Amino acid sequence: MKRTMSHMIAPSILNADFLHLGNVLEMLNRSEADYIHLDIMDGRFVPNLSFGFPIIQQIKKVAQKPLDVHLMIVEPDKYLEEFRNAGADILTVHYEACDDLKSTIERIRELGMKPSVSLKPQTEVSVLGPYLAELDMVLIMSVNPGYGGQSFMVESYERIKELKSMIDKIGSSTRIQVDGGVGQDNIGQLRDSGVDVFVVGSAIFRANDPEGMIRMLKNI
Ligand code: DX5
Ligand code: ZN
Repeated sequence: MKRTMSHMIAPSILNADFLHLGNVLEMLNRSEADYIHLDIMDGRFVPNLSFGFPIIQQIKKVAQKPLDVHLMIVEPDKYLEEFRNAGADILTVHYEACDDLKSTIERIRELGMKPSVSLKPQTEVSVLGPYLAELDMVLIMSVNPGYGGQSFMVESYERIKELKSMIDKIGSSTRIQVDGGVGQDNIGQLRDSGVDVFVVGSAIFRANDPEGMIRMLKNI
């Protein structure tokens, strides 16, 4: 399918001010952000812990944009329905965390969410070949998952190009998302490499004017 849309911005609230989450969400609602990216960590798939269902439910009450939920957890199949009930619109599982990826993808779609699969930086892009046609999105991690504020891994460009050529070859509309170390210095080159959706955490929430930064990243 021909891509005619401009790129999308999915701010990650991992490093936002959780004491004032209501204000953060008001800003995101007003902003040019396309999605709200929520990073769920279990201390097992990644060393860090983040937040869970109660917070997602509260966010869902006020969010006016789709919730793009990135699961960095082992055994995601146990919780797919709970994430749907909490308000996830797009649900990303990690390839490395799934035993039967095909059925996980099918179940996510059956539950009414958009299925997406993420790859850690060390996992070969080619493993996704058999699943691509069934996926709304693929998330290429451009840092080792677990923490915001890390540096972008330049090897990711080759991985994105490889994925884009796989997607183009089968004529699928699967979107490419990139997550980790994205900001104003690399977003243009990443878009030219084929990225459709950008997760951006610290570059937005450490900016003096987060809403202005979203506008800038969207209009690059
Ligand atoms: C990392 C998370 C990211 C992270 C992005 O494991 O998946 O979404 O919050 O943050 P930055 O943009 O600071 O790398
Ligand atoms: Zn993420």
